[in-house]
Amino acid sequence: MAKVKSKWVCQNCGYETVSYLGRCPECNQFGTFIEETTTNITKADSSRPSNLIEGEVKISTIKDIELDEKTRFKSNIEELDRVLGGGFVQGSLLLLAGDPGIGKSTLVLQTTKSICEIELNQKKLKVLYVCAEESPLQVKLRAKRLGVEPDNLYLTNQTCIDEVINQIDKIKPDFLIVDSIQSVFCASVASGSGSVSQIRECTNVLMRIAKQRNITTIIIGHVTKEGNIAGPKVLEHMVDTVINFEGDKYKQYRILRCIKNRFGTISELGVFRMEDEGLVEIISPNQMLLEGPADAPGSARVATCEGSRVFLHEIQALVGSTNYTNPRRVAVGLEYNRVLQVLAVLEKKVGLNLSKQDVYVNVVGGIGIIEPGYDLALALAIISSIRDIPINPNTVIIGEIGLLGEIRYVNNIERRLKEAQKLGFQKAIIPKVNERTYEKIKETGILIKQVTKLTDAIIQGLKQN
Ligand code: TYD
Ligand code: MG
Repeated sequence: MAKVKSKWVCQNCGYETVSYLGRCPECNQFGTFIEETTTNITKADSSRPSNLIEGEVKISTIKDIELDEKTRFKSNIEELDRVLGGGFVQGSLLLLAGDPGIGKSTLVLQTTKSICEIELNQKKLKVLYVCAEESPLQVKLRAKRLGVEPDNLYLTNQTCIDEVINQIDKIKPDFLIVDSIQSVFCASVASGSGSVSQIRECTNVLMRIAKQRNITTIIIGHVTKEGNIAGPKVLEHMVDTVINFEGDKYKQYRILRCIKNRFGTISELGVFRMEDEGLVEIISPNQMLLEGPADAPGSARVATCEGSRVFLHEIQALVGSTNYTNPRRVAVGLEYNRVLQVLAVLEKKVGLNLSKQDVYVNVVGGIGIIEPGYDLALALAIISSIRDIPINPNTVIIGEIGLLGEIRYVNNIERRLKEAQKLGFQKAIIPKVNERTYEKIKETGILIKQVTKLTDAIIQGLKQN
């Protein structure tokens, strides 16, 4: 017999309790609890779809497991394949997350074009696209505009996940796309679509299907205002791969960032531009990132390394006296706490007084930086703004700043310098501790200034040559 149970679930983090709470003890958010009822299915209950528990449990040694040659499917969208570590892994569950309107549906639709061309056992792959948010007609219109109309792409706007399973039984797809996880529901969970329990249960069902039938599954998830995936972070640990589609939807550039990957590294970035004919890959984005007038005070350039790729960014800083009791600190594209840390080091080690100054920092171009190699460029941009002295635009500044004001080692310095040289940079300020790679660095042909302390770097950076 199915027993109906009631519980209160935090819609932000998924914390569960038996009664209402005003504030969530897990994520400290107020008013996030919603009552959800679930049907607790006992073993004897036959209402559970039998196809969810099929498939025998096998045991074998690791040597006996054979690797299929076709374990990865390439989408032929180079930027996406690189972020995935070489393509979609067969039978894996991938979550594509991003703000509404960023272009997730467009990306998956464009992906299906090459996926439907891949042959497995002399048959082309079949894709089932569950377009729960739009009608098949709307998807068809968009697909037509994008020039994506493969024969073996099946569309359904079924929102009940149990019915989707029936359709999977009929069509037997190799690829399944669920757009989006917030708009499908599972009949055994009483709460509405998009609630934590529904999202969790639907993902669970999809995961079992993906693993048992070897169906590569892409789940699309909208991000909430707080920046969490689907409100709950609960999805992240359930799936194999999590990819974030980031960027400002009012601007053209979009970034694909892998934040979890059971089958590859997570450091790669993919860059796209949204155009009338869909998403266009940007293979070398560095020219576009360095467009602005760079010889104004408050601008510094840095080479960062994300996976196999080097990006050149311009960091801008604006420091001015404040009209507020608490001076403002605004960071766009950089981690807020890291900016505060660099400001603290500047105050203590360089003797700046920033307690009456507002500080605004920004990464031009809209691609946020997460690796710490930008610290030094940030510090120099801030000083350049305060002193009103420009930094030579042909200087690239690389280095992490420690709490003692020391300049710390960064990885892949050689690759960063090579890319900077290709783009016409003539001088580089880099950590002295990178000296062990010095022989190789010399080959890059850039004038190298090695620094050990923040104060040395400031002298080098603000020099007029
Ligand atoms: P969409 O893929 O529907 O976003 P999501 O699924 O993440 O909510 O794309 C939304 C935006 O992209 C929409 O505002 C229109 C724009 N767009 C283009 O500019 N060009 C195109 O070719 C397409 C298909 C969409
Ligand atoms: Mg969509």
